[in-house]
Amino acid sequence: MIIKIENMSKSYLQGKTTVNALKNINLEVEDSQSMAIVGPSGSGKTTLLSLLGGLDLPTSGSIKLRDKCISSMTEEEVVEFRSENIGIVFQQFHLMPHLTALENVCLPLEIMGDKNPEKLALEFLDHVGLSKRADHFPHQMSGGECQRVAIARATVTRPKILLADEPSGNLDTETGIKVMDLIFKIAEENQMNLILVTHDIRLANRCQKQVHLTGGLLK
Ligand SMILES: Nc1ncnc2c1ncn2[C@@H]1O[C@H](COP(=O)(O)OP(=O)(O)O)[C@@H](O)[C@H]1O
Ligand SMILES: [Mg+2]
Repeated sequence: MIIKIENMSKSYLQGKTTVNALKNINLEVEDSQSMAIVGPSGSGKTTLLSLLGGLDLPTSGSIKLRDKCISSMTEEEVVEFRSENIGIVFQQFHLMPHLTALENVCLPLEIMGDKNPEKLALEFLDHVGLSKRADHFPHQMSGGECQRVAIARATVTRPKILLADEPSGNLDTETGIKVMDLIFKIAEENQMNLILVTHDIRLANRCQKQVHLTGGLLK
């Protein structure tokens, strides 16, 4: 089992009110299985993905990835586990604005201790069709190009788990389709577990498993 979530809840304290973003989630994903998380806006999709990425902690319950309980790791352990096992593609790209495309893709390799990451990073920029944009900064690229750089950055370490949060949500339809095709292709070629948050039922249908979130409850 690549992912096992048990009795997991997440609430946010906002001023004096508590927002129960996720309620008693139980979920299992098998090795090499792809999964779509669908649900309306505000249903907890991004919250679930950020918990899976170890970017935040659950309020209760446990999250196991590759049989390791990330919800009880120290911050340093989570950072190390994430850098070795997880790639994340965000809706808003989240590239480092002051780094070039190539430097953005080098970053996760450098974090893993690679002293000469350029060759592999260039290879991955080439995978996403952007070797000619290596020296461009994010503001010099289109949204679709930025997202392709972000895909190269998320996959260059060949993580077992690839998390993607509405990756085509900020792109026009045609560019979005190309970006999604690329994500599916790279995930398949590298036997990554793709966990995809999407509104698009056709994209969800391309995943082997689908779960629905409504008001923080999983169906
Ligand atoms: N950092 C936060 N602080 C307070 N409330 C939050 C925070 N992040 C998300 N929420 C709330 O949690 C619920 C789920 O949000 P989210 O996971 O972003 O939903 P989705 O991605 O499905 O649109 C929403 O009600 C949202 O307002
Ligand atoms: Mg969201």
